[in-house]
Order: sequence, then C-alpha cells, then structure tokens
Amino acid sequence: MVNTLKKPEFEELRPGIKVPSKETILTPRFYTTDFEAMAKMDISINEDELNAIIEEFRVDYNRHHFVRTEEFNQSWDQIDGETRTLFVEFLERSCTAEFSGFLLYKELGRRLKDKSPLVAEGFNLMSRDEARHAGFLNKALSDFNLSLDLGFLTKSRKYTFFKPKFIFYATYLSEKIGYWRYITIYRHLEKHPEDRIYPIFRFFENWCQDENRHGDFFDAIMKTQPDILNDWKARLWCRFFLLSVFATMYLNDIQRSGFYKCLGLDAREYDKYVIEKTNETAARVFPVMLDVKNPKFYDSLEICVKNNEQLRAIDASNSPKPFKFLRKLPLYISNGVQLIGLYFMKPIRMDHLHGQAR
Ligand SMILES: [Fe+2]
Ligand SMILES: [Fe+2]
Repeated sequence: MVNTLKKPEFEELRPGIKVPSKETILTPRFYTTDFEAMAKMDISINEDELNAIIEEFRVDYNRHHFVRTEEFNQSWDQIDGETRTLFVEFLERSCTAEFSGFLLYKELGRRLKDKSPLVAEGFNLMSRDEARHAGFLNKALSDFNLSLDLGFLTKSRKYTFFKPKFIFYATYLSEKIGYWRYITIYRHLEKHPEDRIYPIFRFFENWCQDENRHGDFFDAIMKTQPDILNDWKARLWCRFFLLSVFATMYLNDIQRSGFYKCLGLDAREYDKYVIEKTNETAARVFPVMLDVKNPKFYDSLEICVKNNEQLRAIDASNSPKPFKFLRKLPLYISNGVQLIGLYFMKPIRMDHLHGQAR
C-alpha cells in the first residue's frame, strides 16, 4: 500500500518545488532601504572596530563548515505526519529568513561599493554567509523531496522599505536573536542527542557564530551614528523593535510548539530564554531594554496567543467573509490593546552603563 496518509501534501509550483507559504504579518520579511543615505554615512568615529570585524569576516572561519556529511544520505520518511509538516515549515521559514538577509546585504554591497567601500565589503561578506545558510537549508528541504525556488521568491515577494536606521535596529536584532535561537537548540541537543532527529542541528554551533559576528557588525555601524542610539526617539524606536521582534517570535513559536516538542524542547521555556538573552545582549548597544521579567509581559503575550488561536479557528471555518471579519474584529482589537500596553510598559534604561566594562 502506498503510504500517502503519513506524508503531508505540500502545494507545488512545479514537481518538487514548494509554493512559498502565504505572507502574513508573522512571516519573514524582505527589506529595501535608502541606499543613497546609507552611502553618505560617515563611519569614521568607529572605523577601527568596523575594520576589526570585517577582518574576522575575511578570515572566513566557516569556509569548510557547510558541507553535507554522510549522515544526510538516508531516507527521512520516518519523520512523518505532523512532525514532517512542522519540519518542512521550519526549514522553509529559516531558509526564507536567511535568503532575505542575503538579498538585502548583497544589494547593499553592490550599491555602496564605490561610495562606502568598507561598509560595502562588510555587507558583501555577510551576504556570502547568508547565501551559504540559505543554500544549506534549501538542500535540507530536498531531503523531504521539496525545495524553494529562490529566484521566484526574489521576484514574487513584497519588499518593505525601511530607512537605514530602522534597517539597523531590525537586522541587528534578527542577527542576535538568530544567534541565541541556534545556540540554544544546539546546546540542548548536545545534552540530549536522542532528540537530534535530523543532522542539520549539528551545524548550528559554528553557524550561529556567523550570526553573532553579523550582529556585531551592525552594533559597530550603529555606534558610528550617535543619533541612532542616543536620543529620546532612539529609546522609543528601540523599544518598538525589541517588542516587535520578541512578540513575533513568541506568537510564531507557540503556534508551532509541536516542532520544539519533537526536539524535546518546551516552546515557551525556549522562547523565554532566547528573549531574555537577546534583551541582555541588545542592552549593550540599545539605550533601553524591555522589562521581560515583569510577569505582565508574558501575561499579555499569552492573551495574544489565545486570540490568535481563535483567529485561526475563525479563518478555518466556513462562515462567509464579512461574518468572519466581524468575529475577528474584537480579537484584533484585543491584540492591539495588549501590544500597546506592552509598548508602554516601563523599560529599563541602559545608556548610563554604556562605555563601562560590564
Ligand atoms: Fe544566517
Ligand atoms: Fe546573519
């Protein structure tokens, strides 16, 4: 008997090429920016630190890291049913996020080449890393008989325009949170090798070091533009970006807690740890950190988790569209109220500590 029950069906563009998941407010985003403004930035006040980081990029520690080992060469049909769906979704989301980094950094490297060669080199070397990461994940998808058409993704996705300073807040945080996500999974599986159901997680240790270095690059860039970090606007924007990144990850991951469960992780504990660590890391450069230890923080996010469960249930129901909208409206409003409440929670000022050994 053909075992079709166990293997979930994915929509395909062409045989073996997966239709990219629908874009939502919670899916990885593609960015574009004001290249002129970026080229005009004066980076001289922190050029030494930037040079040191780019020198590390040039060394290219992971040149030989992303090579598929023997371990991959087997059938992965034992990862089936719900786990397989969650797995493919994880690989796709990760691949899309890495690839979006690649596109943005590549374009920045190209546009800044003549006007700001050092920064351009930094972006080019980071795009090299992200291309490897995305390629490695896409290859992993092929173990599940699927792959993403990255060319199609490049053309079909909407690009969000952000002014350079917002690009820096967003990419800095996504690199640092990426570091904490990968290293936390890696360390957990090091202690529980029986939960390592697929070999890609073995690669996460060196991989996350790339993300950490990328984050350091943005840290150094932001320090060249004091207005990005030092005034009251900076404090408001940093709060906004910290909250959006943490809330998006939390809502996404709790919705997919089955994926973390199959690795032996509790999604809530995992996320709380990653948020705490990223918040602490960001406090080295951002003027504020969020008060994530205040119980109200997760109480509010949990209300959003429940609202989102109901929103998905309404979406899956057969009611006509206008009815769906009416049923969804109070839930959207409730999410908005919670997120605004979280935004206005008193943050913790960190700028007085910057420049001191911590
Ligand atoms: Fe990456
Ligand atoms: Fe990165």
